[in-house]
Amino acid sequence: MTAHADVREIPFFNYRGAFSSIEGPLMDTIRDVVDRGAFIMQKDLTDFEAACAAYLGVKHAFGVGNATDGLYFAFKAAGLAAGDEVIFPSHTMVASPASVHFAGGVPVPVDIGPDHMIDPRKIEAAITKKTRFIMPVQVNGRTCDMDQIQAIADKHGLRIIEDAAQALGSKFNGRMAGSFGLAASFSFYPAKVLGCLGDGGLVVTNDDAVADRLHGLRDHGRNREGEVAGWGMNSRLDNIQAAILHLQFRDYASIIDYRRSLAAAYEAALGDLPELNLPPAPDADSRHFDVYQNYELEADRRDELKVFLKSRGIGTLIQWGGSAVHQFPALGFKVSLPATERFFQRCIMLPMNMMVTTDDVEYIAECIRGFYGH
Ligand SMILES: Cc1ncc(COP(=O)(O)O)c(C=O)c1O
Repeated sequence: MTAHADVREIPFFNYRGAFSSIEGPLMDTIRDVVDRGAFIMQKDLTDFEAACAAYLGVKHAFGVGNATDGLYFAFKAAGLAAGDEVIFPSHTMVASPASVHFAGGVPVPVDIGPDHMIDPRKIEAAITKKTRFIMPVQVNGRTCDMDQIQAIADKHGLRIIEDAAQALGSKFNGRMAGSFGLAASFSFYPAKVLGCLGDGGLVVTNDDAVADRLHGLRDHGRNREGEVAGWGMNSRLDNIQAAILHLQFRDYASIIDYRRSLAAAYEAALGDLPELNLPPAPDADSRHFDVYQNYELEADRRDELKVFLKSRGIGTLIQWGGSAVHQFPALGFKVSLPATERFFQRCIMLPMNMMVTTDDVEYIAECIRGFYGH
């Protein structure tokens, strides 16, 4: 560790710094919305929804309060009935199954495969007479092998609702995450690849009838004419947040490119270490286009590594408090999912965001190599 002997401060994420590079245009955007008094369901929102729909190649997109609401609305709009089972990977945020729970369904957690995504073989094994949906989670900005999942869904007459909260812009076989299932939900939480100044989300579908129901569910049951056509909630993406998102969305391709270049730098600097299992490199599999919402790897002596990196000024994160969904006792899941459990003993996330430089990656890699004695 000669080149970078001094300790550097590299936080895992810096919420204040995340928006500083666009502070001028950001403040102009906010002032413009305030000057127009355009706060709820205005043109900024509909323009952003249209831009997202075009980008994703879907017919309908609705800004919602957050991705959890978006998933909940997706299941309600898709006709989930009380007691219907929904298969999902336990390697996800508790929000994924919470949406099923509140829609009246029964979330059924299954194990992950070697790629840390839902294991298609485990999906088939978990199907019962009550199964109605599969919810793949496009975790860490990677899209599952949707060919395999679609084949299982078709074989058993199941619908797919995608949790694409972490995956705006991620693709499988050239097709965008969120465009495979009957509906999908995205998150704009501030630390997301595309984040706003608070909570925000988007729910999308290609199905006109589902779209009509989504429209009402997020806006007091109102249809496009403003008439109450059924029961609904209030979960609209704020107009000001839509304007802030749209501002950043114009440079979205370069944001993704930058994250992919950081992933390539991590791979080049750490790919040979036997103690680590890195996420797939950007060019590892031409079917996948990953946006690296997170850079999550498996590491030997994970807890010691975390403490060591902290002493070197490097922030890391063990996702979701170190527990898979089925491991939260309060939720009452009584399953054992060995691959997921092993993963949660070994997983750790390294800094991956627009404030991290390739020089930072080099420093982080030097520290990790030093830790393992390489
Ligand atoms: C995989 C996954 N699903 C759902 C959510 C919920 O998103 P939100 O916080 O926008 O409700 C998140 C949030 O980060 C997530 O990571």
